[in-house]
Amino acid sequence: MIVYLDGKILPLDEARISPLDRGFLMADGVYEVTSIIDGKLIDFDAHIARLERSLSELRIQLPCATADLLQIHRTLIERNNVSEGGVYLQVTRGAGMERDFLWPDPADVTPTLFLFAFQKTLVDSPSAHKGSKVKTVPDMRWKRCDIKAVQLLYSSQAKSLAYADGFDDVWMTKDGAVTEGSSSNAHIVIDGKIVTRPLSNDILHGIVRASLLRYAAEKGIAIEERAFSVAEAQAASEAFATSSTSLVQSVIEIDGVAIGTGLPGPVAQRLRQIYLEESLKRAE
Ligand code: PDD
Repeated sequence: MIVYLDGKILPLDEARISPLDRGFLMADGVYEVTSIIDGKLIDFDAHIARLERSLSELRIQLPCATADLLQIHRTLIERNNVSEGGVYLQVTRGAGMERDFLWPDPADVTPTLFLFAFQKTLVDSPSAHKGSKVKTVPDMRWKRCDIKAVQLLYSSQAKSLAYADGFDDVWMTKDGAVTEGSSSNAHIVIDGKIVTRPLSNDILHGIVRASLLRYAAEKGIAIEERAFSVAEAQAASEAFATSSTSLVQSVIEIDGVAIGTGLPGPVAQRLRQIYLEESLKRAE
């Protein structure tokens, strides 16, 4: 695997970072995952805009020109022969002189920039055909879920424990309402209308969510941005999740209760098709 680290394209086993890197010591960093279909990047500009927002919230400087990021992504796709999958990008604050809760002076530390590309079936994925079964758990993450931070402890713990119990993923809940999945946004369908939680610090502002809602609105599909409860989701005609690694994914069961017919429903399947068509038109 050929990766990018701090200005260099090199084999993964030659990539080295300092153990004092604050990403390693303190999860002091942010990331992005951009999907690749037909060798092309999907919604690239939106991912970079969100990266810049995450970085600015944490006062971390991108250690290269933003304009260089597209070429780095393309080089990794090409050098690794990726036709479908994604590019993972991570920026951490870098290695300070010591471990300190205080952010080091930006003059004294160079942020670390690491990217790799991976092959993964997105379009014809078995899980998209099957749908997923989710378990609800209380959302116990920190309260700035709008920042795409590398600190994924709770999401990863919750998903892994649910997986051991036979579920595919979790949907997290807060004050009686669903926030989002471990690494996806959560949506339901009621009377043909998409019901989805509005943007706030409670959820990651998903790129697939934003694009899909725009395409759906253009096709005349109604959208209601409001919080919904687990009971409402269980009684909905369909439920689905969106993310760059699953695109649009039907959720067929919540806490053991079948949603609608218990199979991926027509609205989510149509939305998945719309998303694929529209995003490919704009891919770069
Ligand atoms: N996760 N919510 C959370 C908590 C996420 O981690 C993600 C994405 C999303 C969906 O965002 P987007 O549509 O921009 O991919 C929502 C990525 C894929 C990951 O962590 O691998």
